[in-house]
This record gives sequence, C-alpha cells and structure tokens, in this order.
Amino acid sequence: MDRILLKNGQMVCPAGGIDEIRDLLIEKGKIVKTGKNLKAESARTIDASGKLVLPGFIDMHVHLREPGFEHKETIESGARAAVKGGFTSVCCMPNTEPVIDNQGIVELVATRAREAGLASVYCIGAITRGRKGKELSDIGELKAAGVLALSDDGSEVLNSELLRRAMEYASTFGLFIISHCEDPWLAAGGSVNEGAVSTRLGLGGIPRVAETVMVSRDIALAAYLGAKIHIAHISCAESVDMVRAAKKAGVKVTCECAPHHMFLTEEAVLGYNTNTKVNPPLRTEADRQAVLSGLLDNTIDCVATDHAPHAEMEKDVEYDNAPFGVTGLETAVGLMFTELVDRKIITVSRLAEKMSLNPARILGLNRGTLKEGSVADITVIDPKAEWAVRVEDFVSLSKNSPFIDRKLKGKAVMTIVEGKIVYEEKD
Ligand code: DOR
Repeated sequence: MDRILLKNGQMVCPAGGIDEIRDLLIEKGKIVKTGKNLKAESARTIDASGKLVLPGFIDMHVHLREPGFEHKETIESGARAAVKGGFTSVCCMPNTEPVIDNQGIVELVATRAREAGLASVYCIGAITRGRKGKELSDIGELKAAGVLALSDDGSEVLNSELLRRAMEYASTFGLFIISHCEDPWLAAGGSVNEGAVSTRLGLGGIPRVAETVMVSRDIALAAYLGAKIHIAHISCAESVDMVRAAKKAGVKVTCECAPHHMFLTEEAVLGYNTNTKVNPPLRTEADRQAVLSGLLDNTIDCVATDHAPHAEMEKDVEYDNAPFGVTGLETAVGLMFTELVDRKIITVSRLAEKMSLNPARILGLNRGTLKEGSVADITVIDPKAEWAVRVEDFVSLSKNSPFIDRKLKGKAVMTIVEGKIVYEEKD
C-alpha cells in the first residue's frame, strides 16, 4: 500500500522543533503531510495514540559480517535485527572478509540489502587496503561506490603519516575518517579494563591510555589539517574531556558512545560472562558517568551500538580466548528509554537527536527528520511497553548480548523505511 496514515501519535521531531500529537501521512515513500484530523482515502490507517512517532533511528556503527562470516550475521539478518530494534538505517563497518575496500564489495552489500528490503544499509569503506594499515584504499573508487565514511574499525591506522594522507584524501572526496582509537601495543594481551577487576580476575588489562593516546593523536591530526574526524565508541573519561576541549577549540570532531559503555561497568565482567567482553572494554563507574555527561552536554553527538555479533561457540570459551564484541541493535532503544527517558535524564526529543538527527547530519544523510517532503523513515515507539531481553527473541543470528534478562520499558513497535512498513510488532 502506497499510502499510510499514522493517527494521533505523539510526533517528536527535533529538526522541526515539534513535540505534539499529530497525524502523519505517507505517500510514495515520502512524508507528505503532518497535522490534526488528517484524512486520506485508500490509506492504511494506523492508530498511533499513546505511541511516539519519531524520525527513523540511524546506527552509524554496526558489523554485519557479510561477506565472510555469515555464521555470525548476514546483511539480511542484521537488517532484520535493525528494523526490529527501531533502526531504519545502519552503517556497516568494513572488517568483513574480503574487506570492504573496493567497489565490488560495496556493491555486494548494497545488493544484499536491496534483496532483504528491510533497513537501508550503508557502507563505511576501509581506510587501508585489507585493513592492513600499509597502503591507502582507492578512496575515489569507494566514494563513487557510495561509502559514507572511512574506517579501519577493529584496528587503528598506526602510521600517522598514512592517516594524515587518508584524512586529506577523505576531505577532498567529501568523506571523513571514523577513528577506532586503540594503541595495540598498550592493549596487547588484554581482555578487560586494566584495574581492580582485571587484577581480581587474573585477566590481562587494557589500560585507558591505550585509547587516549590515539584520541589525542587523531584529534591533533584533524586540528592540524582542518579535517573532519569522528571518534568511535568512546569509553573513558579522559577521551570525553579531550573531545570536549577540541570542540571548544573549533576542531571538526564528532563522536559516538555505545549503550554498553553507558549502562554497564567492568563489574559486569565479574562472572566471567564472555558476552561482556568488548573492545574498548567496559570501564569504571566514573567513566560511565563521564560518558553519560558527555552525551548530555553534547560532547558526544550520537549513540551507536557497535553491534558486533559472534556465534555462541566462539563466545563459549575461556574469557581470554573469546572474541571482542556484543550485539546491540535489538536492545539499544529499550535501554535508552528505560535508563534515560523514563528516568527523565533526557527528553524524547533529545533521544531523537542522538539516535536520528545527529547521525544523519554527521553522515550527510538526508534523513533524521519528519518534515513534510522528507523520506518516510519512521520509528514508532511504545514508551510503556515492558519487556525482558530474552535469547529466544533475538532475530540477529548471534545472541551475544550482555543485557540478557534485563527488564526494559519502551520498545519499537513499528519501523517504516522509505514509506514501507518493514517491521510491525505482532500482539
Ligand atoms: O568489540 C568489538 N568488536 N570492537 C571492535 O572494535 C570490533 C568488533 C568486532 O568486529 O567484533
């Protein structure tokens, strides 16, 4: 059906400064009208009373694993998890096999995403060929193929001169670098945050300085070149401070944080549950508070899940041997509502800014708004829905969530991508 009429939802759109009960009419993939008492013949009419109607959420940091690791996730299963979680667009990181460092792989991802017909899937291209950190990918080719940014996520580009050239080329092509800030020598052998918990558990520690030295270097390079940089999955207080200071100084830096760094600490590792093993690691309560403060004072621009699916047999090993990564697409919205909106730490409009408008702006996507004429990417939330995170409910191929059994309030009940209902909760 080409026409959909959402009736009486609480429409919240930070771009338009709207937070009121309105109807919203969708036609041929676009939002054509919003207002009171709208009528539309031959439209599917949906009663959205008591629900929030928000610009579709955008997750700028996910790992969809295809090609190469389809036992963990495929474009189809990842896109399904995305729309179930309320995300209309996701950006997939290039640490696939082969790596997303050329036009062919970007096209493969686009084809698979089109076949799935669920979320919009964009690619982040690799900065260096094969993510090996030795030579630059063909950035012009990647831009032409449609990547939105460049990253070697999972690894840092250690050669500062190479990264400088990557930043320069990226700027020339209207792209930017997403930085995975980690010094691998400082982090070597670590599984958890270095500190009391690593000592107590006898696990190798990853010191915060492994992150901060690289945040510092990458901001310095961006400042020197006047280039745009985005810091991925920020996890510790000093990094937040550095980004805050850099923004004040006029550096074109943006950054993201992940739900697990906002809602968990290293204490979660105490039971040796490998679903708490993530890179960067869960940090201290002070870091968690610093990340939250950064989100509130706009040092941190957006929330991104770093959805990193791994198969059960891969996680079902000793803590040191388990791969880093946690899933996030199906729990992020519930966590944000439960921990921040329901407790009145942020408003719904603020949440829409952090999960839709700001990522759209950072990525240069013409999304993140409910203004008339814009693409009909919409997330409908039931803010009162109470639910628990259950392994059996995940549609992602992987179930490595650190939030299993958490009770949450607030969930996506309908996801609309380009005017098409791609997810609808069944009663
Ligand atoms: O925990 C993580 N897992 N962090 C990363 O940077 C990469 C990711 C993955 O690909 O599994």
